Amino acid sequence: MIILTRADLVHEALIENGAIFATRPAENATRSIFSSNKFTVNASSYGPVWRSLRRNIVQNGLSAAKLRTFRHVRETAMDKLVERLKSESQANGGAVWVLKNTRFAMFCILLSMCFGVEMDEKTIEKIDDMMKTVLITLDPRIDDFMPLLRPFFSKKRNRAIEVRNQQIATLVPIIERRRAAVKDQGPIPPRRSSRTSTPFRRVRYPTGYECGDIYPAISEDPKLWTNPTKFDPDRFLTGAEDADITGVTAVKMMPFGVGRRICPGLGLATVHINLVLARMVQEFEWSSYPEDSKVDFSEKFQFTVVMKNSLRAMIKPRV
Ligand code: HEM
Repeated sequence: MIILTRADLVHEALIENGAIFATRPAENATRSIFSSNKFTVNASSYGPVWRSLRRNIVQNGLSAAKLRTFRHVRETAMDKLVERLKSESQANGGAVWVLKNTRFAMFCILLSMCFGVEMDEKTIEKIDDMMKTVLITLDPRIDDFMPLLRPFFSKKRNRAIEVRNQQIATLVPIIERRRAAVKDQGPIPPRRSSRTSTPFRRVRYPTGYECGDIYPAISEDPKLWTNPTKFDPDRFLTGAEDADITGVTAVKMMPFGVGRRICPGLGLATVHINLVLARMVQEFEWSSYPEDSKVDFSEKFQFTVVMKNSLRAMIKPRV
């Protein structure tokens, strides 16, 4: 395993020599339960299968033309988000949970894009919960790295199989519904339901070597950033600091990975983030909860890095 902690080395490995590190390591026992025989964009090894799956998602599901057709879905999801925030704050003296609500809005859009069928809020929440459980189940365990220990983890393995079965039982009926809806409209486009989650494993290996990079070593490198650990979004607004998040010109910050396996959802995800932020700020004035407290930025690892204490905030409608 090679660990890269310097931005210039990451650039050299993943941009300049992108093809060498473009494959995925062998799946561990838990991941292989979920990876559909490595037949997803994220799981497949670098080669013709990956190329064809990736081309499919980039040119069909995530193309600019396709994204334009989902405008009404985005608008409905944003209206739902505002409604939810309003009623939650009314019921709780102005306080709202931020992640839970924005996650719901994102899920409304992504599920609609993915499955093309209308879903009620209960079903959306059910799928969201199920996907969260899948991600937690995929958190690496010691027996993933030391197969000798596997017999001691048989309960966890059975649980993973159970979660996979739940996932299939939840999603397949939705695929069937879509199939029934389009059966008179010609063949179903060869779209896979690829992962809409945000995989955090940034590991590839060419000939037995795995190559990983440590994100904080780069995003908190004082040689690249002024006050790197300070939460200071204004640094970008004033133009004082900048980063090419595709990493092509230089690697400074890589929330979507870089190189050939860079997240193909980057464009879509940034549109959604801008939209959610803009709409939340447009509708409400935001302040900390409890009042005058400081935001707790401590983190925990839950497939991706998330806030250890989920953010709660106070909101007030602007009009
Ligand atoms: C804020 C939201 C998102 C973040 C932070 C994120 C981040 C990432 C990261 C770090 C990777 C791994 C890149 C690598 O291995 O080098 C990745 C891969 C991937 N992401 Fe995203 N992602 C986001 C949203 C999305 C969305 C909305 C979609 C699809 C609709 C998507 C689809 C994928 C796929 C299919 C891969 C696998 C690419 C491959 O292996 O070729 N992601 N993402």
